[in-house]
Amino acid sequence: MSAWPQELASRVVRWQATHGRHRLPWQGTRDPYRVWLSETMLQQTQVSVVVGYYDRFLSRFPDVQSLAAAPLDDVLALWSGLGYYSRARNLHRCAQAVVEQHGGRFPATAAGLQALPGIGRSTAAAIAAFCWGERAAILDGNVRRVLARALAFDGDLAQAAQERQLWERATALLPSRRADMPAYTQGLMDLGATVCLARSPSCLLCPLESLCGARRQQAPERYPVRTRKLRRTSQALWLLRADDGAGAVWLEKRPTPGVWAGLYCLPVFDSRQALQQAVPQRLQLRDEAPLLHVLTHKYLHLHPVGATLERSSVRREQGGWFSAAQWPQLGLPAPVRRLLAG
Ligand code: ADE
Repeated sequence: MSAWPQELASRVVRWQATHGRHRLPWQGTRDPYRVWLSETMLQQTQVSVVVGYYDRFLSRFPDVQSLAAAPLDDVLALWSGLGYYSRARNLHRCAQAVVEQHGGRFPATAAGLQALPGIGRSTAAAIAAFCWGERAAILDGNVRRVLARALAFDGDLAQAAQERQLWERATALLPSRRADMPAYTQGLMDLGATVCLARSPSCLLCPLESLCGARRQQAPERYPVRTRKLRRTSQALWLLRADDGAGAVWLEKRPTPGVWAGLYCLPVFDSRQALQQAVPQRLQLRDEAPLLHVLTHKYLHLHPVGATLERSSVRREQGGWFSAAQWPQLGLPAPVRRLLAG
């Protein structure tokens, strides 16, 4: 059993070399700015979506100085459609902290990185492992699943003490050589994303198959154990799609804090009645097909309502008329972008 940790690590490292992902745009660099940007984008978004955003973001902001100096609106506009916009706001704050407090250089340890805005333990460890080979464990959703299964770890991860325990087990499994850390870290992520899937994992393709506790029990899907299920509340919102009859739409900036803080959006109302009271009486309203948008903690039932208005009849704050040509430059929530395009 004492040889087990290094055996797991070396299998992951070997497997990564032959079966892992190698040609992603953020691989082959040790620039912490690039790695940090990619890891932040990848936190809640799939690789295939991130690729395009990552390249566009880097062309506009090639280094931490240019990002720190940019207006937040420009950052949000480039983030538009990726969702979870607190990531973009934190990215901007973090860039400013790196420039103002660290002379434009990222701290070169996981602990130093974790002290920056928006960088959690797992992201800090991933950056430190990729850039400097630091022996720090990651435990994002995919890796948690791989390790909980390999270890047949049956502690309830809804409990902080069990979660801490899994971090310790993950740390004990790290390769002893720093040079192996980038491939090991990437290999665990790749295994979680391509083989050790939440449902119907491909155990026969897995390099850990003969070591895996969950496999031995023939019950990979029993792990990880987590009793507290994510409960989403529901909220209905009415969105006024006001046009000027010539293709421009009224958009306004969302307040902070709240859903879509800082982004441009159609005016939002809690009820159809509230929407109706905000527009001139006897205005023809067009109810459009509702759509469902799922956030981490909420189901949003969105009810778009169209209306054509005189430009001068709109007197609301923090907004303006924007033509279709201007929409791509604005930070817009993904469902609003889809609505406008549709
Ligand atoms: N998910 C989080 N980090 C990742 C990475 N470096 N490569 C692929 N998927 C990831």
